Amino acid sequence: MTGLPVTARFISFEGIDGSGKSTQARRLADHLRREGREVVLTREPGGSPGAEEIRQLVLGGAPDRWSAETEILLFTAARRDHWERTIRPALDRGATVITDRFADSTRVYQGTTRGDLTDIVDQLHRLMIGVQPDLTFVIDLPPRDGLARAHHRAADAPVDESRFETFGLDFQEKLRGGFLDLARRAPDRVRLIDGQGSADAVAARIRAALPPTCA
Ligand code: ADP
Ligand code: TYD
Repeated sequence: MTGLPVTARFISFEGIDGSGKSTQARRLADHLRREGREVVLTREPGGSPGAEEIRQLVLGGAPDRWSAETEILLFTAARRDHWERTIRPALDRGATVITDRFADSTRVYQGTTRGDLTDIVDQLHRLMIGVQPDLTFVIDLPPRDGLARAHHRAADAPVDESRFETFGLDFQEKLRGGFLDLARRAPDRVRLIDGQGSADAVAARIRAALPPTCA
């Protein structure tokens, strides 16, 4: 547990589609609320009214609707609004913020899957956002399992948000590699969590990886 911030108030969940981020973000929020913390549970793309509108633009439609560069701009625009309207005000009043995805998703999804655009992602992030979470959980799951879970969920979804999932298994394998690489490169901030097994088992792993003031 060396290197983790003593007080982690800005926490993100990352990983491939269907890895269990939303489930675990919700469970961690419930856990911290039971400990008496004010928790704002949010998500990307989205998390503010303007960013939710951008979400509909980027997640619906044909797989080749946007180039990677245009997606970087759209996701960063959504993130800037999310940061201004939801995250920063919550942190300023002392709340804990748990977000289901943040800038690491752009770095991996747009930065590494269609050529190497990580420099552009990083520069734009520095210019427009300039903040990283205190603590990031990367939930690791074999893509076949993640897609099976995501397809199961999509069958019940009211709106079609499957654009990235339709890119298929090879794409998800690339993403998994990107997230594993992130965990290796930023060990002070990122905790890699095995996403296999029951939701209870994964939640227990996450709680065991929390810094002392969070646990
Ligand atoms: P993500 O946010 O990473 O896409 P979700 O938390 O939405 O993942 O989970 C995707 C689907 O898998 C949901 O239907 C959820 O109920 C289910 N699920 C989540 N965690 C587990 C788990 N540990 N085992 C089996 N199914 C799970
Ligand atoms: P999300 O709703 O978290 O999907 P899932 O629950 O399937 O993981 O995110 C929607 C999609 O948007 C997901 O396929 C990842 C993609 N995405 C990017 O490509 N770049 C980004 O910066 C973000 C935040 C999400």
